[in-house]
Amino acid sequence: MTEQQLTNYPVWDKTVRIFHWVNVLCVLGLIAIGTVILNAKGLGVTTDGKILLKTIHVYIGYVFFINLSWRIVWGFIGSRYARWSAILPFGTEYKTQLSAMIKGMKAGKPVGFLGHNPIARLMVGLLFLLLSMQAITGLVLAGTDVYMPPFGNTIKEWVAINQSSVDLVKPYSKEGIDEVAYKDMRDFRKPFITTHYYTFFVLLAAVLLHLLAVVVAELRDRNGLVSAMFTGKKVFSEKPFDMD
Ligand code: HEM
Repeated sequence: MTEQQLTNYPVWDKTVRIFHWVNVLCVLGLIAIGTVILNAKGLGVTTDGKILLKTIHVYIGYVFFINLSWRIVWGFIGSRYARWSAILPFGTEYKTQLSAMIKGMKAGKPVGFLGHNPIARLMVGLLFLLLSMQAITGLVLAGTDVYMPPFGNTIKEWVAINQSSVDLVKPYSKEGIDEVAYKDMRDFRKPFITTHYYTFFVLLAAVLLHLLAVVVAELRDRNGLVSAMFTGKKVFSEKPFDMD
């Protein structure tokens, strides 16, 4: 058997790699604490315990939000394979890649991609959409549930009886609260908690599918997908299709 010559190609810049691992840690933490919040009653968590869990969840959420926001900006100004044009499943380049991939599969000669392959672009696009939905709904819930920034003060002013009772408004307490305004606020937040709740399950499934796809693609193509998220480089025996 002849040894194939493998070449290292740089693909993921430092920002992408740092974003990826910070995001993994935040999402794991948010899922873990979110699961406890979801089952708080059954687990016998006290009201103070619930407020603490939600506060920690929100602090991790801030790190998650800032990291995600910076990655979204980086998608416009970052390196070739970090850009949205190379990630989201749209545009003429995407169509060309998809037809090359299908042609390669039919011919039994798989086409190598340095950035995400066309199927991975669908998956990663979905992941960014779900993460953004959790980030936006989470920030609204932080304000409407535990009166934390960026909307907490506005929400306090909304539900307080008057200006002098704003400081009395606290999570899980009726002190200083106008019952009618409070009910209106709870009605306003309903679609946000419903979205946050269902997106959590879809995200969980998407994360598991993402992990499975990485394992399958690595075993099939052997391009060093996992180590590429640490070193920034993938290995190929032939020049990848999406290499300029
Ligand atoms: C990957 C990201 C996230 C996941 C997987 C996640 C997951 C969850 C889950 C499962 C719950 C329990 C839902 C329920 O009680 O019905 C929850 C609640 C909550 N989340 Fe998140 N979350 C994420 C991001 C965020 C962010 C970025 C923030 C804010 C900065 C946030 C703020 C909240 C708040 C305040 C609650 C309590 C809402 C309530 O129980 O009324 N979350 N989250």
